[in-house]
Amino acid sequence: MKRIVVLISGRGSNMEALVRACAAERWPARVVAVISHRPDAAGLAHARAQGIATAVVDHRAHATREAFDQALHEAVAAHAPDLVALAGFMRVLGPTFVRAWSGRLLNIHPSLLPAFPGLHTHRRALEAGCKVAGATVHFVTEALDHGPIVIQSAVPVHADDTEDSLAARVLATEHLIYPRAVRWFVEGALLVDGAQVRQRDGQAQWLMAPDLPSPAR
Ligand code: GRF
Repeated sequence: MKRIVVLISGRGSNMEALVRACAAERWPARVVAVISHRPDAAGLAHARAQGIATAVVDHRAHATREAFDQALHEAVAAHAPDLVALAGFMRVLGPTFVRAWSGRLLNIHPSLLPAFPGLHTHRRALEAGCKVAGATVHFVTEALDHGPIVIQSAVPVHADDTEDSLAARVLATEHLIYPRAVRWFVEGALLVDGAQVRQRDGQAQWLMAPDLPSPAR
């Protein structure tokens, strides 16, 4: 049984998707803890209701980024995870934390990386006039929102999209691709060679939104 720790900042819908798929698909794994840097993260209550251990490492209680990273590292390490999954975790993690969990640290980012690392991805995609948007699951490296890409989803950008409507369309695909990526990880089905990640059995490492509209004629 592989042990998964999920780090969240807020709502935790990606964490919920992982917990649900882990049970429904009988992964050889268990989500052993959900940890947040915010005591008010809504996802913590959901995790508790599922009987999952939770912890809070409040970033405001630590004077420096290094001290926070160290406290977070200790909280994570206490659960001896095989995988640490960042799921809407909105703090930048320092090099010491990232190095300690390197190869065992996944993130989901709501853009088609390497486009739009950082915040406000949907707003920036709309402003740039993108016609396609999406999400990326990747191994975490020291460069923010970079690292070997495991799987990506793509959705159309509609002419009348707002930041919220686009975010919702992308989020629905996040809930599909993150469980897929984590399942591959816990099954040992990911082959990493530098920047290249291959799924051992050749499964598709992309997901196109199923509701592609036909072009108007
Ligand atoms: C997701 O879109 C995630 O990719 C981004 O923030 C959002 C978090 O949503 N980083 P949730 O907390 O998983 O519901």
